[in-house]
Amino acid sequence: MHERLVPSKVLRRSARGPRVGLWVVIVAVCLGAATSACAETERAVTEPVRLPAPEHEGPPLETVIRQRRSVRSFEGALTLGEVSQLLFAAQGVTDSIGRRSLHAAPSAGATYPFTVYAVANHVEGLDAGVYRYRPNAHALEPVHAGSVGSALRAAALGQQWVETAGLVVALVADYARTTGRYGERGRRYVHMEAGHISQNLYLQAVALGLGSVAVGAFDDDRAARVLGIESPRVLLYLHPVGRPAP
Ligand SMILES: Cc1cc2nc3c(=O)[nH]c(=O)nc-3n(C[C@H](O)[C@H](O)[C@H](O)COP(=O)(O)O)c2cc1C
Repeated sequence: MHERLVPSKVLRRSARGPRVGLWVVIVAVCLGAATSACAETERAVTEPVRLPAPEHEGPPLETVIRQRRSVRSFEGALTLGEVSQLLFAAQGVTDSIGRRSLHAAPSAGATYPFTVYAVANHVEGLDAGVYRYRPNAHALEPVHAGSVGSALRAAALGQQWVETAGLVVALVADYARTTGRYGERGRRYVHMEAGHISQNLYLQAVALGLGSVAVGAFDDDRAARVLGIESPRVLLYLHPVGRPAP
């Protein structure tokens, strides 16, 4: 059922940039191995991480569309500016109607069923961990401290690009937001919207000189435990983004 491609070449190098300590309170220590709900045992309380303004001006859209390919070999770290631009492309606020925000990707009835999670594997100036993107503040809300790359890779059936990518964007759906307005048909709309966000991420990655791959093959329960996602929210997509290895 799952699509799974084997890469011709995957480089795994550790080139993490410097970390600025952001975690203030660690309530519990992670004791788990890759198969455990490691992230659930690490809870941090700290300030949101404000992201730099997304001001990148890339190549023409037509060039970006032509260049887009799924990339699975990564090396090095991303910058916070790149993370900012990627999250803005996924779900950033681009306009408003009255007090309602409108986001970068279209959404049925502007119901916006997705919460975008950012898994920082290797990002300069950002501690490894799990964050929630807050579109209105264009900020990251820390969720779990510490690297979950290895556990997430295991949950994603061993796909190593989930661990080697600097950032993994996780799309987490709350179906009720859309089915509340459209009934069962709303589920279909949520899936369509995941595609819109995914394509924005793919294209934004290219425009930044980065690479990305949509990952739909993972163990639902295991991946949700790693990210600390609880029912009724559902993880639909993982999107590793990284600096392509030569
Ligand atoms: C819904 C969906 C799920 C996918 N899941 C995976 C995945 O789990 N692992 C992976 O390596 N690629 C995955 N892909 C990427 C496809 O393999 C890739 O898009 C396809 O081979 C075409 O290559 P291209 O993206 O370079 O055009 C997925 C793509 C889609 C649309």
